[in-house]
Amino acid sequence: MIKIKYKYLLSIVILLFISCNQSKTSSISEEESESAKSIPHLKKQGNATELIVDDQPYTILGGELSNSTFTSIESMEPVWERLKTLNLNTVLAPVYWELIEPTEGEFDFKLLDDLIIKARNNDLKLVLLWFGSWKNSMSSHVPSWVKKNQEKYPRVKDDSGKSHEILTPFSNNNLQADLTAFKTLMQHIKEFDGNNHTVIMVQPENEIGMLPTARDYHPLANEKFKEDVPKELMDYLQKNERELVPEFYTIWNKNGLKINGTWEEVFGKGLHTDEIFMAWYFAQYTKQIIDSGKEIYPLPMFVNAALNRPNKNPGEYPSAGPLPHLMDVWKAGCSSVDMLSPDFYFPNIKYWCDLYARQNNTLFIPEHRFDNTVAAKALFTIGHYESLGFSPFSIEQIPSKPLQPKEEKLAKVYDIINQIKPILDINKGQNKIEGVLLDKDVKEVLLVFGDYEFKVSHTFNLGWEPNSSSENWEPSGAIIIQNDENEFFYAGFGVSLTFKNIKNPNLNTGILKAEKGYFKNGNWNVYQHLNGDQTHQGRHIRSFNDDVTIQRFTLYDYE
Ligand code: DGJ
Repeated sequence: MIKIKYKYLLSIVILLFISCNQSKTSSISEEESESAKSIPHLKKQGNATELIVDDQPYTILGGELSNSTFTSIESMEPVWERLKTLNLNTVLAPVYWELIEPTEGEFDFKLLDDLIIKARNNDLKLVLLWFGSWKNSMSSHVPSWVKKNQEKYPRVKDDSGKSHEILTPFSNNNLQADLTAFKTLMQHIKEFDGNNHTVIMVQPENEIGMLPTARDYHPLANEKFKEDVPKELMDYLQKNERELVPEFYTIWNKNGLKINGTWEEVFGKGLHTDEIFMAWYFAQYTKQIIDSGKEIYPLPMFVNAALNRPNKNPGEYPSAGPLPHLMDVWKAGCSSVDMLSPDFYFPNIKYWCDLYARQNNTLFIPEHRFDNTVAAKALFTIGHYESLGFSPFSIEQIPSKPLQPKEEKLAKVYDIINQIKPILDINKGQNKIEGVLLDKDVKEVLLVFGDYEFKVSHTFNLGWEPNSSSENWEPSGAIIIQNDENEFFYAGFGVSLTFKNIKNPNLNTGILKAEKGYFKNGNWNVYQHLNGDQTHQGRHIRSFNDDVTIQRFTLYDYE
């Protein structure tokens, strides 16, 4: 009897032990799987590059804060709600070197931590901009102990020997001080955010460039200028001779495609060579910053550029940054950077994006002036270039309620892009996604999807809009996705589509079915079955300029 009791008790104990252990294991594995989500990273899908956040593709529906807003909790307080109203999923925000290391070697991350928590609570991701050695061609954000010790932390000099408030990239002291701060920042982000992934990318420095002198004439720089072009750059040029961007190749070719020599021997004498020389050393300095940061916490990292004004010489615009004509120098000198990114304060976005899409460069637009074109351009760049995302600058400005028209349109566009995300994600990199941007200069474009050619017109061009005679056409834009052989999605505004079968031109192409709707939890919901006047009796798919909408349609052919 006792024996039986003892056996019985023993089995209860064993069972309890097993079940305890089982529940322990499962809770550990939940925790583990939470923290085991991969660090935000880039991944190739077909011919596109995707940003992966928490193991899922992520499109940045972003906005960059104006420079000083993210410097106190109080200043950010009224902003969070506004960012949510704009339907942002990501905020681009600076980290000032002077604020995290006010005294040499003593770091203070309290403000940053509090802001990260606020972002997290608002369900927003962060792209942090490291305002370190350089911000807009200046060194305004370096701490006072760097500013006040010019002997230790030397600056760029112009050809008259005058110093400028730009740290020289030729000083190891400058590099080491920035490196220490950046490494400490990345270590801190890893420790504080490594399990949450609120911070998804980092931009080291900001709009690096030389202004108002094209070349640094500091003695350290002069020394380097006399030396031969580093072998690393010469090797890259020879290896990639046929792929170099034409603007750069022309310079090298004009001087005889020399494979060694000083900067002036290889590239000729002139401001263009001064710029190439500076670009190389800026790129090398940035590479060390990026490498050291990624070694600690390998988030994707990009550098941004202030675009050069046409017909200006180096030194008259912020020169030597990651500009299109210097892509090769930056790719060779800073191989660990993930993207070279343009900032837009001038028109012609297509012209510049086409330049930045060369050399396998993944497109990401960290800054665009917050004007009435941003909604259309977000659709265009995310559709046409399958860019990682888009971000108007000074996103929190005009804190008016309700939203102004341009803000409202951006909010609606971000909402529809977010809705179509699942079908964007699966069709990426397979020539099934397009983006259009139409205005009074580009009223119509042709797109090809499989057998079909789409004629895409600005609705103003067709005379349907109430103000279509006005000269002041609002830009319009759309993303079009071929989701199946004959099934398409349209997400946009102010665009009309007509169709032609180019594989078999004897056939006519008609609309089999058209729906206006929305995605909820990834499922398509029909709001209206579109026909009659809404499709011009089956002739086209369209939405007016004030109708930011998603439509699903299928095409068919008849004789
Ligand atoms: C581009 C810079 O990157 C931003 O930080 C800001 O200074 C804008 N220009 C202009 O306001």
